[in-house]
Amino acid sequence: MLDIKRAGHSTLTTPDIERMIDYFTRIVGLSLTARDKNRAILATKSGVEAIVLERAGAVEAPRLSFQVAPGSDLGELTSRLNQAGIKSEKRSDITPGIGEAIAFKDPKGTTLEVFSDFSFTAEDANFNGIMPLKFGHIAYQCPDVQGVVKFYCDVLGFRVSDWRSDFFAFLRCSRDHHTVNFLRNPQTSIHHIAFEVRDWSDIKRACDFLARSNIKLTWGPIRHIIGHNVAVYHKNPDDMTIEFFCDMDQMFDEELGFFEPRPWHQDRPQKPKVWGDDTLSNWWGPMSRGSSSHSEPTAPKPASEQAKPARSPTVASARARSLQKKSKRKVARS
Ligand SMILES: [Fe+2]
Repeated sequence: MLDIKRAGHSTLTTPDIERMIDYFTRIVGLSLTARDKNRAILATKSGVEAIVLERAGAVEAPRLSFQVAPGSDLGELTSRLNQAGIKSEKRSDITPGIGEAIAFKDPKGTTLEVFSDFSFTAEDANFNGIMPLKFGHIAYQCPDVQGVVKFYCDVLGFRVSDWRSDFFAFLRCSRDHHTVNFLRNPQTSIHHIAFEVRDWSDIKRACDFLARSNIKLTWGPIRHIIGHNVAVYHKNPDDMTIEFFCDMDQMFDEELGFFEPRPWHQDRPQKPKVWGDDTLSNWWGPMSRGSSSHSEPTAPKPASEQAKPARSPTVASARARSLQKKSKRKVARS
């Protein structure tokens, strides 16, 4: 088993690389650190590569990189993968910051590039755009969520943070509640990518900046229940959902086994678990307790949930049952 420490960068393909470079630099606030006609490397302002853009016909996320402990012997990791029956190959010049990596496919067909050492990019002192702290997580849709989760845990060393029922898994490789998510869907595709910002004031600033840039939010601001991150979502020019978040649950100590206590947790302590099918998406904001039908989101929802209205099992259902009873009594009286 490998011991993945963090996500490196996501490689995204796009038919219009110039438009996406403009979006990721001017709106997201990443730095363009290298480019040629068909490829661009983007890093956070703090100098860590986050996104690689490649020109192609379709919008996809074909590769994802992960870091293992610095100094790890990639040849030895290749042997470990071989023993597990996974073919991998050594690749060089992955990005300007990553000299070499081993590459292999996960069960849903994403190529994973695992590296041990990297270099920071040159400092970019220009402050512009939203400027996230880091590339935080990536969510995929795929048919066999259980199979993919098993691979990520058994081969890569991820831990399951939470499940929503049996169709949506949240996995961590660090203290962050999730670095990858897998949502059951007949077709395999990217669901969204997420960047971490510092705090609520950065979320507000992001909302104002997106509005000023004529980019509409598709969901949020909200505080999720699973992971408890405060989040806002929008679509980028390639129609890919992008999330900015802060306040994600933190597992500081794996042996303690609970997420650092927070006042908005439902359980004390908040431990990894399987959340019920009708757990609300959000603690507050659209799709939360007391939401009106006017706040229906247009955002990330599994296909299996799309026909269901937002509801609270504890309040809305009880209220509906009570109204039904009252209405029956009224009918009986009349
Ligand atoms: Fe997310």
